[in-house]
Amino acid sequence: MIADVVVDLQYGDCGKGKIAHALCRENEYTHVIRYNGGCNAGHTIYHNGKKFVTHHIPCGVFFGIKSIIGPGCVVHVETFLQEIEDLEKKGIPAKKLVHVASNAHLITDFHRAEDKKDEEIGTTKRGNGPAYRDKYARKGVRAMQDPRLQPYIISMYHELYENEIHDEIKILFEGAQGFGLDPDWGDYPFVTSSHCTVGSALLNGVPAHAIRNVWGVAKIYETYVGAKDFEGPDEIFEEIREIGEEYGSTTGRARQINWLDFDMLKMAARINGTNTIVFNKMDILETLDAWCLYDGPNLYEFKTRKDIEMWLEGKLELEVDSNIKVIFSGDKEFI
Ligand code: IMP
Ligand code: MG
Repeated sequence: MIADVVVDLQYGDCGKGKIAHALCRENEYTHVIRYNGGCNAGHTIYHNGKKFVTHHIPCGVFFGIKSIIGPGCVVHVETFLQEIEDLEKKGIPAKKLVHVASNAHLITDFHRAEDKKDEEIGTTKRGNGPAYRDKYARKGVRAMQDPRLQPYIISMYHELYENEIHDEIKILFEGAQGFGLDPDWGDYPFVTSSHCTVGSALLNGVPAHAIRNVWGVAKIYETYVGAKDFEGPDEIFEEIREIGEEYGSTTGRARQINWLDFDMLKMAARINGTNTIVFNKMDILETLDAWCLYDGPNLYEFKTRKDIEMWLEGKLELEVDSNIKVIFSGDKEFI
């Protein structure tokens, strides 16, 4: 068994969907597995030039790959079924490709109603936090208990270990949210309720030694949605928001913007063991020809794109992994 993992190194919305989609095109995966989160996630994917936004469903469906919502996830049944319908209408055969792990948990309408009242954290109000709370309080409901999900339910254990293709299983793990929102490593309490690191992928039933490549995804600037103050004072952030279309794909909220924080990026890259890092949205800063980042408390300004690229590459090789592969990307569909 082999597994590659796509993990977000900042606050979500860095373009995991794009990377996962591109990796599915290039590799022969047998499974794509979402390993954490619920419909608080929103992945914007361009497939053959057409835009798709998915919340629950992993991107394997675009390439005919079996796509599983793993045991680490929480599922809102109506949203899930609606998403299947929407993809089917657009010609993507989601019905036969998508499965839900029997031991994933449900987001109920009570969870949603409760989350709607949140004011402190600035959640997506999708019921995510209450669903995980009930899971760990041993009061939750598992996916296999809902009759509407019966056609989609599979046993993760059976799928991975009692399967005749056991030896040839090649998984792409598609994460949700990001390092800065992780309950342990993020800025608690301004975090989500499921883990957003590689460790979280392992919880879905694969052995640790199966992990092959870890793709860390970042943006060349940072965004965050939620209740805390995050945006820097620079007026350029307003322009970045407009040009970069930095509005939540789940809630439509304006994302707060700041320059990249190298210390956090380094920590996220180390803890996740990333061997490839992709910096997305290079095209946005290219338009403005503005290249800055924070190294500790210091704000550095670079003259050219090449300068910031060389700085980042050098630092990541020196401080994270001398063999790390660093990619700078400025395209919506391709890496
Ligand atoms: P929750 O996950 O809905 O409970 O929200 C907790 C925090 O995580 C809030 O600041 C949300 O805006 C943020 N969040 C949750 N999911 C995503 C995501 O997919 N992208 C970006 N931020 C997210
Ligand atoms: Mg998103």
